[in-house]
Amino acid sequence: MIRTGILFLAGFSVALSAGWWSVPRLLYREEPQPAQFSHITHTSEKGGMSCEDCHAFREDGTFAGIPKLETCAACHSAPMGATQAEKDFIARFVEPGIEPRWKAYLRQPDNASFPHASHVLRGKIACEKCHGDIGKSEKLPVYRVHRFTGYPEDVMGKRAGPLGLKRAGGMRMDDCVACHRQNRIEHSCLDCHK
Ligand code: HEC
Ligand code: HEC
Ligand code: HEC
Ligand code: HEC
Ligand code: HEC
Repeated sequence: MIRTGILFLAGFSVALSAGWWSVPRLLYREEPQPAQFSHITHTSEKGGMSCEDCHAFREDGTFAGIPKLETCAACHSAPMGATQAEKDFIARFVEPGIEPRWKAYLRQPDNASFPHASHVLRGKIACEKCHGDIGKSEKLPVYRVHRFTGYPEDVMGKRAGPLGLKRAGGMRMDDCVACHRQNRIEHSCLDCHK
C-alpha cells in the first residue's frame, strides 16, 4: 500500500515537472517573419544607416514604426551584394511590390495605445530599455504568439523565480503602470485606452 503510494507520488511528480517545463513551450505558437533581416548589416559601415533612417518620427510627432517596402526598395531595386537572402527579398517583395508583413514583438491590442514620442522624445527612454538588443542583432528573434491571449511572447514575459511563478520582462498593463509609478506619471484609464 505504502509502496504504491510512494511510486504514485514519484510518478506524479515526474509527470508534473515534465508538464511544468513543457507547457510554456506548448502555450506558444511560432510564426515566421516574412523575411530574414540583419540590423547589423544595415547599421554597420556596410549599410551606414542610423535607426532614424528606418524608424522615424513623422512631422506630426507620430512614430512611423516598421519601415515600408519603399524604404528598402530605395537600395534593393537591384542586388547590392551576392547573398541569397537579398536575392530572395528582391524576388519575393521588391519585384512584385508586395509589402512584407513584419510581426511586431511588443504588439499591443487595438484598444491600448502606446505613444513612442512621449517615451523616446520627451521621456528620453532608450529603445533598449523596452525592446532589448533587437537593434544590434544579426537576425530577427524567433516570433512566438501565446495561443490563448494572442499576445507575443515579448509582451507576456518569461516565467521566472524558483518555481516559475513569477514573471520577468514583458509589457503587460502592469509593466506600463509600474514604470509610470516609478516615474510619478499621472495617468487615467483613458490615457492608454481610447
Ligand atoms: C541605404 C541602403 C539600404 C537600405 C535602405 C536597405 N538596405 Fe538592405 N542591405 C544594404 C546593404 C549595403 C546590404 C549588404 C549587401 C551585401 O554586401 O551583401 C544589405 C543587405 C540586405 C539583405 C541581405 C542579408 C542581410 O540582411 O545582410 C537583406 C535581406 C536586406 N538587406 C533587406 C532589407 C530590408 C528588408 C530593408 C528595408 C527595411 C533594407 N534592406 C533596406 C543596404 C540597404
Ligand atoms: C534598414 C532599415 C532599418 C534600420 C536602419 C533599423 N531597423 Fe530596426 N527594424 C527594421 C525592420 C524591417 C524591423 C521589423 C522586424 C519586426 O519587428 O518585425 C525592425 C524592427 C526593430 C525593432 C523591433 C520592434 C518590434 O517590437 O517588433 C526594434 C526595437 C528596432 N528595429 C530597433 C532598431 C534600432 C535601435 C536601430 C538602430 C540601431 C534600428 N532598428 C535600425 C528595419 C531597420
Ligand atoms: C517605453 C517603452 C518603449 C520604448 C522606449 C521604445 N519602444 Fe518601441 N514599442 C513599444 C511598445 C509597447 C510597442 C508596441 C506598440 C503597439 O503595438 O501599439 C512598440 C513597437 C515598436 C515597433 C513596431 C511598431 C509598429 O507599430 O509597427 C518598432 C519598430 C519600435 N517599437 C521601435 C522602437 C525604437 C527604434 C525605439 C527607440 C527609438 C523604441 N521603439 C522605443 C515600447 C517602447
Ligand atoms: C499606462 C497605460 C495603461 C493604463 C493607465 C491602463 N491600462 Fe489597461 N491595459 C494597458 C495595456 C498596454 C493593456 C494590454 C496588455 C495587457 O492585457 O496587459 C491593457 C489591458 C487592459 C484590459 C484587458 C486585460 C486582459 O487581461 O485582457 C482591461 C480590462 C484594462 N486594461 C482596463 C483598464 C482600466 C479599467 C484602467 C484604469 C483603472 C486601465 N486599464 C488603465 C495599459 C493601460
Ligand atoms: C520604462 C518606463 C515606461 C514604460 C515601460 C512605459 N512608460 Fe509610458 N511613460 C513613461 C514616461 C517617463 C512618460 C512621460 C514622458 C514625459 O512626458 O516626460 C510616459 C508617458 C506615457 C503616456 C502619456 C502620454 C502623454 O503625452 O501624456 C502614455 C499614454 C503612456 N506613457 C502609455 C504607456 C503604455 C500603454 C505603456 C505599456 C505598453 C507604457 N506607457 C510603458 C515611461 C514608461
